[in-house]
Amino acid sequence: MRKRIGILTYRGETGFVEPGFLRRLVKEGLKMGAEVFLFSPQDVRYSIRQIRGFVPLEKGWTSDWYDWPDIVIDRYRYYPLAKHSLYLPFRKQPWFRYANSRFSNKFRVHQVLVEDPELGKWLPETLPYSKETLSSMLRRHLIVYLKPTNGTGGRSILRVERQGAGYILHGRTKQQAKSSEKLSSLTEVCKRLENWMVYEKSGNEQFFLQQGLQLSLVPERTVDARLLVQKDGNGTWRLTGMGIRIGPRRSSTSNLHGGGTAMPAAAFLINHFGQQQAERILLECKELALKTVSRIEEHYGQMMEFGFDLGIDILGRVWIIEINPKPGREIFRQLGQHKRYLEAVRRPLEYALYLTNQTEEKETASNIY
Ligand SMILES: Nc1ncnc2c1ncn2[C@@H]1O[C@H](COP(=O)(O)OP(=O)(O)O)[C@@H](O)[C@H]1O
Ligand SMILES: [Mg+2]
Repeated sequence: MRKRIGILTYRGETGFVEPGFLRRLVKEGLKMGAEVFLFSPQDVRYSIRQIRGFVPLEKGWTSDWYDWPDIVIDRYRYYPLAKHSLYLPFRKQPWFRYANSRFSNKFRVHQVLVEDPELGKWLPETLPYSKETLSSMLRRHLIVYLKPTNGTGGRSILRVERQGAGYILHGRTKQQAKSSEKLSSLTEVCKRLENWMVYEKSGNEQFFLQQGLQLSLVPERTVDARLLVQKDGNGTWRLTGMGIRIGPRRSSTSNLHGGGTAMPAAAFLINHFGQQQAERILLECKELALKTVSRIEEHYGQMMEFGFDLGIDILGRVWIIEINPKPGREIFRQLGQHKRYLEAVRRPLEYALYLTNQTEEKETASNIY
């Protein structure tokens, strides 16, 4: 039987927000012999078990009514300034079988991971904002980051660095504009941060403080690594690829959306640390990712893929900055790694099909015995 895969996404008045990727995702699924369509919460008619699904045309999109999918891949991402009130209540309904379970905000994820003694060494200190915490963290760390719990793309992030008797602040606003200033007292820094939180806050989100890592492997830049781990067509976690991101000059973030550029990981690390250290770092990244996803699945249930933002500091220590449950694959395209990009697109579909076949096998088995 032909399998039907629904891909849950956000669709606004101007259409889909990551149309290039979604087009490719549907096309690859069709090539695998599945029926694949995109849909949004507003497209579901639960009472008649029909869904208005979208598929790409040569140019643009077309829609039609579809029967209930065998499995759903949740690719719904929050976009700044868009209305998202439908999503959460919808996602909480037990209407579909999902290939990826729900995840939580960055701060909560940190709290879950930090409980695992094996992961602690890779986690920068992360605490809720308060004046007292800021002051004590700035005593212990040269740099402290202020970040929103639900941010994406490097938005609304402010970095505070001690310098001499004063402080240098570098920020990224909601619109990705860079800001920088020098302040001379901790009282001024607190005021500035509190102001920042008022202006940058969306909805009822919170901000937290994080130990700042020294990521200036390239002078005056923020450099980090993006690693993609995905389940394959046998349900096994695999490392699909890794790339280095180099932020624009004097930017507190490295995100590609904020103007960062990509470099191949191995070559970059060998160049900075030598062959032996580079190999150790790469191995450690892999170990860290596999241990972390296994801990995440214990807590959140079955997952499908993650994009890890990893800090590799100037001493070669590896850190977990952020774990993205709905990661982009653009870094591989930027690196000209087209085969890898395609593999990164195909893996979730292969995994989703594997899940549907798994039930079938189980059912057949129970019919026999
Ligand atoms: N604690 C930190 N120390 C150093 N750099 C950081 C830290 N936190 C974030 N950054 C920089 O900011 C970028 C964006 O932060 P991240 O937590 O990944 O938020 P987003 O969800 O917006 O991508 C990171 O990729 C990294 O370059
Ligand atoms: Mg990130």
